[in-house]
Amino acid sequence: MTKTEPHQDWQTDANPALPHWQATVLTLFPDMFPGHLAHSLAGKSLNEGIWALKTLDIRDFARDKHRTVDDTPLGGGVGMVLKPDVVAAALAAVADCPGPRLYLSPRGRVLDQALVRDLAAAKGAVFLCGRYEGVDQRVIDSADLMEVSIGDYILSGGETAALTVMDSVIRLLPGVMGKEASYREESFETGLLEHSHYTQPRVWNGIEAPEILASGHHRKIAEWRQAEAEKETQRRRPDLWQQYLDRQALQKGKSK
Ligand code: ADE
Repeated sequence: MTKTEPHQDWQTDANPALPHWQATVLTLFPDMFPGHLAHSLAGKSLNEGIWALKTLDIRDFARDKHRTVDDTPLGGGVGMVLKPDVVAAALAAVADCPGPRLYLSPRGRVLDQALVRDLAAAKGAVFLCGRYEGVDQRVIDSADLMEVSIGDYILSGGETAALTVMDSVIRLLPGVMGKEASYREESFETGLLEHSHYTQPRVWNGIEAPEILASGHHRKIAEWRQAEAEKETQRRRPDLWQQYLDRQALQKGKSK
């Protein structure tokens, strides 16, 4: 298999409606994919054809005999920049691949669950992974790439960020997770962090799990969990708590 061939066909004969979602990755390190997504439910759903992965090696689009992909920054300075002609050729090769074009970068819009949901609703996404100092800005602008960051810290390349985005999307695809995931999703949807979790034994190392959880009283358990989610969100993430209060006030205003 050459590096530019897909790891997995787009469609399986068994179910022509599959895949639900296609990830196309442009990278200098195609062997990093599917990485951890070959395991657990993401791996199982990849084998089942629920999502598909195609990786292209950016180096295959270099034009000189040394297969050069980068050059020194115009204006001087440290590091190297990925050349616009090479990256543009790689992007042109995936013009038919479905979904928005993402460039993983610490300068991008920070990933959140709303963006994850939007990406999962598309037919796929194309991920451009930078290395070194990044990609020439002109190719980002002319291809109108959506710049996405996974948080305010610097990774050594876009690959881990792309895998993170893919992970968060894949778990939302139909058939990947069971009821448990939709429950999790719903609870995050409310804008609150999840309540704490406990299992047997009810008393462990002399520490009791909340008594109500062993009562079998479903309504009271649901009320306890809601109160716990609110308390913990307020304590751990005052920013999310404020957004939650603002949203509730807005909804109350609308229903008047
Ligand atoms: N590349 C380097 N750092 C990154 C980050 N925080 N998010 C997305 N891509 C990156």
